[in-house]
Amino acid sequence: MGNKPPTGRTVHAERERPVPSSAPEPKYTVPGMTPRTGGDVIQLLNMRLHALNDLALTLKHIHWNVVGPHFIAVHEMLDPQVDSVRDMTDTTAERISTLGGSPHGTPGVLVAERQWEDYAIGRAESIEHLGALDLVYSGVIEDHREAVKATDESDLITQDMLIEQLRSLELFQWFVRAHLESAGGSLSTASAGSEQEAASRAGKQARKQP
Ligand SMILES: [Fe+2]
Repeated sequence: MGNKPPTGRTVHAERERPVPSSAPEPKYTVPGMTPRTGGDVIQLLNMRLHALNDLALTLKHIHWNVVGPHFIAVHEMLDPQVDSVRDMTDTTAERISTLGGSPHGTPGVLVAERQWEDYAIGRAESIEHLGALDLVYSGVIEDHREAVKATDESDLITQDMLIEQLRSLELFQWFVRAHLESAGGSLSTASAGSEQEAASRAGKQARKQP
């Protein structure tokens, strides 16, 4: 892994915590990999597991809190994404175990170790949630791509799993972004620095359209 901690989404300076520079070495790992390298990959995967567990919960939160004229379309669009992301959490956690590590799946550990703030939007119109969700997906995808780079030499099997997950995550973000895109191809959320700002910009653009 690089020195830079995973940024996640909408990181607030006061919430940033140092990422431990080394993970505990597992007693064993997969054949052909040293326990030291296995420990590094486990550490990286623990944060990806947090990101995916957080994403699955956030998607359900939006599913429950979306309101307005496009409620049913967005409400129903999200459940297949939840199912897919939950499958990703399972694959990721079991890869950690396969490597000789212990996946941390409890909410307390997730909240203590994550590098990003809780999703910022409560009950809101569908377009506002989609604006904020675009930023959520950007954070998860950027960090997944960093993890792909970090495993390029250490563990191609983990890298393959992450790439497969990215294929779906990027597709789901496109489903979200298609709602935010103008006919000219611009995203209403471009350069938004927070979920609230993205929600507000998405809402404003939608209200401008006839
Ligand atoms: Fe439901």
